[in-house]
Amino acid sequence: MRTTIRQQLIEALSDAEGEFLSGQALAEIIGCSRTAIWKHIEELRKDGFVLEAVRNKGYRIVSTPEEMTENDILYGLETERFGRNIHYYESLGSTQKAAHQLAHDGAPEGTLVIAEEQTSGRGRLGREWHSLSGKGIWMSLIVKPDLPPQKAPQFTLISAVAVARAVEEITGITPEIKWPNDVLIRGKKVVGILTELQAESDKISSLIIGIGMNANHGQEDFPEHVAHTATSLFIEKGEKISRAALIQCFLKYFERYYSIYISDGFKPIRLLWESYAISIGKRIRATTVSGVITGRAIGITDEGVLKIEDDEGIIHHIYSADIQQ
Ligand code: BTN
Repeated sequence: MRTTIRQQLIEALSDAEGEFLSGQALAEIIGCSRTAIWKHIEELRKDGFVLEAVRNKGYRIVSTPEEMTENDILYGLETERFGRNIHYYESLGSTQKAAHQLAHDGAPEGTLVIAEEQTSGRGRLGREWHSLSGKGIWMSLIVKPDLPPQKAPQFTLISAVAVARAVEEITGITPEIKWPNDVLIRGKKVVGILTELQAESDKISSLIIGIGMNANHGQEDFPEHVAHTATSLFIEKGEKISRAALIQCFLKYFERYYSIYISDGFKPIRLLWESYAISIGKRIRATTVSGVITGRAIGITDEGVLKIEDDEGIIHHIYSADIQQ
């Protein structure tokens, strides 16, 4: 089979093991023009390859869409605090568990725990979270707001809006948010968020915001029981995405929305959240610990609580539930 310029370029850069190769050398190895090399380098960048270009030295592969290092996240990060302190692991039980320990031991706000693979990733309502190596983004962010514990659910919504905005910027696809924390594309889940709290009497000591993003999964990478309800950014866009770029973008928006929230309150976040929400105005079924409520979702309160109006016109405030449409 004839190999393409793209395949030969990836091979030549990978064989160089991080050393620079000039455009001229690459053109000679592959047997094409320097312009063709330049064009393909740009294409690879769009597909999530991180390539460094240095005048008089040439090109060097920093990472492929399948790989990611701590430095890929730090290089080009636009935040002041969030993601500046990274704990990166090849494999971990759960980033959530590790972040709880770090927060307890005094890790500063903005600390990010990230793992290529989780062996016992956990989701909401005690569910298991499938966390395949190298495909997704499995991370937990430590936030330490000076607020009472009842404000904690608002952070799930701040995170969901930051995720949705970042997905939109990186892929060009506008996702939808299903209350409280699922980010969907074409009705299938692409991101899940789990917010957990460490509190002392009437004050939050730490919030651990766990985020699982299906980034570069192929359809075959999902276990059977979620295959029909889950999707990935790769499946939806048809191109691999740079996980490091998506993390950077999420951190940028999280820091921005967090600061808006601290200065102006929850209302601007609520409006943003509602602009992505799928359930509002629709008839939904909420399964809560105390029973099932069916009715029309009429919005969220300024505390981030879902309001459902049932058929008798009674308005229910939902703090935690599974939502079906
Ligand atoms: C959900 O059920 O939708 C929430 C899923 C949250 C998964 C993430 S992956 C990173 C972090 N570590 C975990 O064990 N869970 C969260």
